[in-house]
Amino acid sequence: MMYRSGVLLTLVLALLISTGVNGAEDLLNPLGERDAEVEQRMAWFNEGRFGMFIHWGAYSVLGGEWQGKTIPFYAEWIRHKGNISKVDYRKVCEQFKPDRFDADAWIRTARDAGMKYFVITTKHHDGFCLWDSAYTDYDIKDLAGLDFDPLAELSAACKKYGVRFGTYYSIMDWEYATTGAEFLRGGGKEQYVQYMKDQVRELIEEYDTDILWFDGDWEKWWTLEDGAELYTYIRELKPSIIINNRVSKRKQFKRDFGTPEQTTPGMDLGYDWEACWTINHSWGFKKADTKWKTTQQLIEKLSDIVSKGGNLLLNVGPKPNGAFPEASIGQLREIGQWMQVAGEGIYGTDSIEIPQPSWGRLTQKGQSLYLHVFNWPADGKLVLEGVKLQPTRAALLGATEQNLRVVPAENRVDIILPTQKPAGPVPMIRLEFEGDVEVFRETDQREIEVANH
Ligand code: GLC
Repeated sequence: MMYRSGVLLTLVLALLISTGVNGAEDLLNPLGERDAEVEQRMAWFNEGRFGMFIHWGAYSVLGGEWQGKTIPFYAEWIRHKGNISKVDYRKVCEQFKPDRFDADAWIRTARDAGMKYFVITTKHHDGFCLWDSAYTDYDIKDLAGLDFDPLAELSAACKKYGVRFGTYYSIMDWEYATTGAEFLRGGGKEQYVQYMKDQVRELIEEYDTDILWFDGDWEKWWTLEDGAELYTYIRELKPSIIINNRVSKRKQFKRDFGTPEQTTPGMDLGYDWEACWTINHSWGFKKADTKWKTTQQLIEKLSDIVSKGGNLLLNVGPKPNGAFPEASIGQLREIGQWMQVAGEGIYGTDSIEIPQPSWGRLTQKGQSLYLHVFNWPADGKLVLEGVKLQPTRAALLGATEQNLRVVPAENRVDIILPTQKPAGPVPMIRLEFEGDVEVFRETDQREIEVANH
């Protein structure tokens, strides 16, 4: 009898764990969504691979300077890093009067760069809202007196150009709660959470946002439970929406996608992810920041990220008047030119389990492999180790495709290159196979060694 009830208890426990009734599973997958459903919802995001991030708000007015001094760190942190008082920061907000803002031009620039989605800071840590929210006066209309609606114009331009529209929203809010300490003591947290819900509902209902991109989840008063509740609330309002993992606690919560920041993981993370990077250093416009990455560096970053199954969300910090910094425009145009030719090796591609070659990166799509050549070999031969099958065709992508000669080899592909490296950054080669690309693994090597003994 004892034995039988023991078995029963184990069975019940196993059942509870497998159905997630223990709670932990529910917090990490609040809607109990199945993998196939997630894959379908995330399809456009994973196909797109490349998006534009915009950090723009009251902080842009200061350009990283306060009382004649450059304040260290990211420009959008200036309220905090520069110890700017509540009263003084209100005055900064009042000066936010973009007279050169052109939503159409912004989204056209993103589209021409090959970007498939767009995410803009609608409320950053400073608490200033980029739309006329019914739930606060701390916004572009009531405080800065703007007579137009940038989010409405951007959302419409996104629809016009086939770019998905996304909104960044900070959980941490220096205007609403300077430290958040009172929330930890229990005071006012419920009202603030309601404020956040009301505002994200505005972003969904008035601007039809496709992505909710949270930040500031490190706040101690914000918990996994809070994250799961907010996630559920949003998905119920708009089931197709995509939410980043900072809606909860980013270390534990992985859905809908992970968000490595100013860093690229060493390998595919095994779940959907997007790395965000700046073109210079600061996210928000900063006059003193001239550390611009080159087009070659940015394209290598995109290739590197996509070769590991991720997306790149590349940031622009527009000036307070609404114009993009000139340097960003140049890089974006050049990336766009490259994407016109090489984009097929980026969009809808995935990682492949072949060790990274010393000369560049690899992506795969269907029965093709894409070789992103960062370093053009001096001896005119490109060797791809780890592939069992020989390709039926190798083509160098360009305005016109150029067939390349493949010399038969075993467990690798040897490609003869034109001696002259083609002009422009990161040449792209497509290898076409008949059948799935068969990868040569270390275990195969061991089997060969055993057989040879
Ligand atoms: C960091 C910065 C924040 C920025 C974010 C983008 O968290 O502190 O200002 O918005 O990165 O991921």
